[in-house]
Amino acid sequence: MVSLDLVRKAARLLSGRRDAVALTGAGISVESGIPAFRGAQGLWEKYDPGEYATLHAFMRSPRKVWSMLSELLSACEGATPNGAHLGLAALERMGILRSIITQNVDGLHQAAGSRRVIEYHGNMDALVCVSCWKRFPARDRCAEGGVPVCECGQILKPDVVLFGEPIPWLAQEQAEEEAGSCGVLLVIGTSAEVSPACNIPVLSREAGAAVVEINPEPTHLTRTVTDIHIPGPASEIVRILVSELSRAVLPLSETGPRD
Ligand code: OAD
Repeated sequence: MVSLDLVRKAARLLSGRRDAVALTGAGISVESGIPAFRGAQGLWEKYDPGEYATLHAFMRSPRKVWSMLSELLSACEGATPNGAHLGLAALERMGILRSIITQNVDGLHQAAGSRRVIEYHGNMDALVCVSCWKRFPARDRCAEGGVPVCECGQILKPDVVLFGEPIPWLAQEQAEEEAGSCGVLLVIGTSAEVSPACNIPVLSREAGAAVVEINPEPTHLTRTVTDIHIPGPASEIVRILVSELSRAVLPLSETGPRD
């Protein structure tokens, strides 16, 4: 059962702001049918990330890594945005949410209508040749299954960040800029286990932002940087948050400082 009190607290923090930013992770897409990485149903229960998610593993055994990537790709292809993606798009239209920094590669924020989306770990839509760097839409080259290949004969890799690869520099710059200048950071559906994404909430907090965490489970952020942790599923919480913020301006007596 979602705590209405906590959601209202978060709504009071967001009310009247135009500088909120969201950091999202795999948990926001779980209700769209895409598995998260960690936890009981997570992809890393089935696939060891050391063997399936590093650049080194990909170059050594592309067929093996592509078997895992194909599973992720088909989950992404069949998925549609849920209430949390749609709610964040609504917050952007309301002028409250300035941007989303997402670790997800599923494109569901854009499908929901969000326009300022920083893809911190890339996107599954594009493939890039490991030799000549030519890019292709994934749907053009993945149809036959197996390892997709470039016109030059070399293997294609999805344009996502594997362990051992740097964050795309533009995404890194934009994320730091957004996180370092927002008034409220909404951290939704991430275990915050992976660096450097896990440093984003710390950066926001140090720059003076309030941090609201939406996640059924506490994370290591909860005790250290989070101001309000709202336990529960993202779709329901964001839906209530949007409906609270859509009402007439909150009474002044309710808009106290954060606690
Ligand atoms: P994780 O799988 O590590 O964490 C998912 C989080 O979502 C967990 O904290 C869950 O408790 C939470 N969660 C589950 N269901 C939820 C729901 N309905 N609503 C809200 N939260 C829910 O996913 P990420 O933190 O995104 O990187 O993982 C970060 C990175 O690790 C990924 O981008 C990927 C992975 O290895 C690379 O591959 C480089």
